Amino acid sequence: MESQRKVASYEFSTKAVRDFIIELVQRETHNRFLPLLAKVHSEGSVVDIQDLLLRFGFDNICLLGFGVDMGCLESSLPEIEFAHTFDEATRLTLKRFLWPIYVLPFLDFLARFGIGTNSKLRNMVKVVDRFAQSVIEKRRQELKLRTAHEESGELASKFSRGYSDLLSRFIQHDEETRGRNSVNAAAAMSDKYLRDIMLNFVLAGRDTSSVALTWFFWLLDQHPEVEKKMVEEVRSIRKARKASLQEHELSQKVVEGFTYEELREMHYVQAAITELMRLYPPVPADTKTAITDDYLPDGTFVQSGDRVSRILSSTRFFQAGPRICLGKEMAYTQMKYLVASILSSPYRFQLLPQPSPKFEISLTLKMKGGLMSTVRKDSCPGFDKVLRTSMRLNGEMAGPEELGLIASLKQKRAHPSWPGQETVESVTMG
Ligand code: HEM
Repeated sequence: MESQRKVASYEFSTKAVRDFIIELVQRETHNRFLPLLAKVHSEGSVVDIQDLLLRFGFDNICLLGFGVDMGCLESSLPEIEFAHTFDEATRLTLKRFLWPIYVLPFLDFLARFGIGTNSKLRNMVKVVDRFAQSVIEKRRQELKLRTAHEESGELASKFSRGYSDLLSRFIQHDEETRGRNSVNAAAAMSDKYLRDIMLNFVLAGRDTSSVALTWFFWLLDQHPEVEKKMVEEVRSIRKARKASLQEHELSQKVVEGFTYEELREMHYVQAAITELMRLYPPVPADTKTAITDDYLPDGTFVQSGDRVSRILSSTRFFQAGPRICLGKEMAYTQMKYLVASILSSPYRFQLLPQPSPKFEISLTLKMKGGLMSTVRKDSCPGFDKVLRTSMRLNGEMAGPEELGLIASLKQKRAHPSWPGQETVESVTMG
């Protein structure tokens, strides 16, 4: 059987998967993310940007990985059992990883009697596995039905829809390699193998781009000049598209969203995101366990079973060489798409004053406590804020509203534990 990495690497390079990724990100951005910003703005409420982005990432990766819409970013921001359990299980796994190795047998012993975090972790893994197993079984059945319909020539519209998610592609790839009528069941990908692939994708793709964007919006708040340049770039790409379209094609639908080619043209947006990841690598460290005795390039001896950790900074935040991140393209697509869409909307995050963010101990570089913000609506996106900030720096605040805003910001800075429901806007304008 071909290695998981080889198959995934091939699938990721296909145009079909690339198009599918764009389609998913587009739907999640326009149907959920932007309407949520509008809602937060009109309600004058406070959101945790990191939480929104994690939900965005989770919905996207579950759709890409196994074609299930978890709906984490629905407007009510629901708690989804699979997402919550997956999160908790990841947290407890990391905790286990941080214990000294000699404590682990004791934790495992306690787990046998249903005591301790290991027992909790086992139960959570069961919930996650059960969910994954049910998706796999359902998908196998759907694909079988589709094949039967194809073969009998009656392609009911229900079955003519292709399955573009990675799980379906792995199953189809497996069947094609073995030949559809093969009875060589031993060579088939087992459900367990598929389940591990599926969960590996969720683990690898869910938090990474979300935490990167959290730091991105935090930094952006301090660099309106960068926002301005990005707005200009996105606008000029939009303008070029409009110019190339015929009059009758200029419908709302055609102009909405960005194509893969347009995203590729966003060099400045890409550079800003890349620089952000250099400063705040989303996967800060990578650990490997030696399976045989070996030597590191500097000659250090590593014994079989030794763990070697490496800090991923500089330009290696996607790892490098044979283990380079398979989702690198997807991550850039997702991040650029969302950033460009927000910048071409009238909505902007208006961060609440808070002490300098700290890192949370997690597999990814999460921001401890999240990133709290209100949402404002700019009449002239990208310009207002630059003007306002430069006026603030020059002490040329215009009207009483601006003065009120600054006074309240200063006050809130002096008292970092800002009240939960109170928003900057309601304090100043009320
Ligand atoms: C900013 C976003 C991301 C960063 C910084 C990042 C970083 C990394 C790193 C450092 C590794 C290497 C881990 C190792 O050595 O084992 C890795 C592996 C991987 N990443 Fe990403 N990643 C990102 C987004 C994604 C996304 C969105 C996906 C979506 C599917 C993804 C899929 C994968 C997979 C499948 C692997 C495992 C490759 C293997 O088996 O060798 N990543 N990533």
